[in-house]
Amino acid sequence: MFVTFEGPDGSGKTTISQAVYNKLKQLGYNCIYTREPGGIRISEDIRDIILDTQNTNMDIRTEALLYAASRRQHLIEKIIPALKNSQIVICDRFIDSSLAYQGVGRSIGFDEVLQINQFAIEGLFPDLTIYLDISAEEGLKRIEDRDHKDRLDLESIDFHNKVHQGYQLVLERFKDRIQIVDANQTIEQITDMAVEIIIKENNNE
Ligand code: TMP
Repeated sequence: MFVTFEGPDGSGKTTISQAVYNKLKQLGYNCIYTREPGGIRISEDIRDIILDTQNTNMDIRTEALLYAASRRQHLIEKIIPALKNSQIVICDRFIDSSLAYQGVGRSIGFDEVLQINQFAIEGLFPDLTIYLDISAEEGLKRIEDRDHKDRLDLESIDFHNKVHQGYQLVLERFKDRIQIVDANQTIEQITDMAVEIIIKENNNE
């Protein structure tokens, strides 16, 4: 089963998705943890280029294509082999991030970004997506204290508000595969809830 975690910056996705992975492993499930952009060497290299704070002149379509390219390679090298191996794949971000950040945040257009990503993923959408629901303001408040801020963390509040609106479109368009979890709860509560959702979905497969 292919499970993705999504949410605005500061929603706690990375902490939660890693905690969920650890819990599933403890319970005896055969799973892997991975992240986007990244997960394998080529895609981590692309990540470094995208998030480099010196790349202020990066064109928005170049950015969208780099995310899609990184996704493609990650899918081919890591996600598909794990799924073929009957493993549960826990992935921190996937296509919905591009729809929200590049499609709406950067105003390229939801459907145009969906199109280039369809080229990249060839129909391999997640089976389940857990969306960590938090306001743009609260998310930004949480990242303010980070020592290291990447190129996207440094974007304006307007950009992050648009990303948030983008996620609302994602939630409407792909309601069947997305479960919304309130990210204002404790890490333990959110982790337990996400694990419960994944196990239930896995039993239905
Ligand atoms: P991360 O902080 O969750 O590791 O992600 C890095 C940044 O990249 C984050 O600000 C969200 C952004 N992003 C996109 O803009 N589009 C994408 O397709 C992905 C996967 C991430």
